[in-house]
Amino acid sequence: MSNNIEGKVVVITGASSGLGEATARLLSAHGASVVLGARRHDRIRALAGELTGGGGKAIAMTTDVTHREQVKRLVDAAVQAYGRIDVMINNAGLMPQALLERLKIDEWDRMIDVNIKGVLYGIAAALPYMKQQKAGHFINVSSVAGHKVGPGSAVYAATKHAVRALSEGLRQEVKPYNIRTTVISPGAVATELPDSVTDPDAADRIRKFYAEVAIPADSFARAVVFAMSQPEDVDVNEILFRPTRQEL
Ligand SMILES: NC(=O)c1ccc[n+]([C@@H]2O[C@H](COP(=O)([O-])OP(=O)(O)OC[C@H]3O[C@@H](n4cnc5c(N)ncnc54)[C@H](OP(=O)(O)O)[C@@H]3O)[C@@H](O)[C@H]2O)c1
Repeated sequence: MSNNIEGKVVVITGASSGLGEATARLLSAHGASVVLGARRHDRIRALAGELTGGGGKAIAMTTDVTHREQVKRLVDAAVQAYGRIDVMINNAGLMPQALLERLKIDEWDRMIDVNIKGVLYGIAAALPYMKQQKAGHFINVSSVAGHKVGPGSAVYAATKHAVRALSEGLRQEVKPYNIRTTVISPGAVATELPDSVTDPDAADRIRKFYAEVAIPADSFARAVVFAMSQPEDVDVNEILFRPTRQEL
């Protein structure tokens, strides 16, 4: 019986750690060909080597999602290697939380560049192929912060609200091309994400919170598998999940 994953070509940004890495592993185990993008080439190359060593299909390409031509090159590489792109997972992101009054303006810029513009560049790179194929699937990563705002999370939450808005607009626009659109909003998942927090007060708070409640990254990977494995006429548009212990 088909799992609707085997043989699919899946591009994943931010595949060098956390959610992206876990998803690459699980999709590869289900028979997908995975194309891994991130800046830390050693990590994605090692992961691709491990997956191909286990009989899977994987390639790695150094990609900074703030450079649109690098994101295009990543998607083009997938099509050159495997003939098509079935799924684009716009996952790369960072979360340097801090109160606005700390004026960490460079971090605001960085979050906008990676979390919003990176997703847009992923859409720009994959959409022309998917239109032509009359098939495809975008999976964009938002957050509980795409639904809730708290002190210290204003800019991060704004970027993740933007991902939801973009995903809903995209969903409506790509109907004629038979393209599916899923936005996944995780709660606290144990990854390297808290390492991106530079403000000492926020870092302390977030580390404690993650230590108390965070769940493993394969929770996210299973949500991806759920959305992908539905029959092609079923479009799972939103998944919001949290650790059972997470209150906010
Ligand atoms: N973990 C959570 O609790 C949680 C909850 C909600 C949403 N999310 C979202 O999940 C996504 C993945 O984060 P994670 O939790 O897996 O954290 P992570 O372990 O820190 O992974 C972040 C990934 O993004 C990549 N990345 C960062 N900047 C990049 C850039 N400019 N170009 C290309 N790749 C870049 C990193 O790769 P390189 O550094 O190698 O480039 C890394 O692979 C993010 O969008 C995050 O906002 C996470």
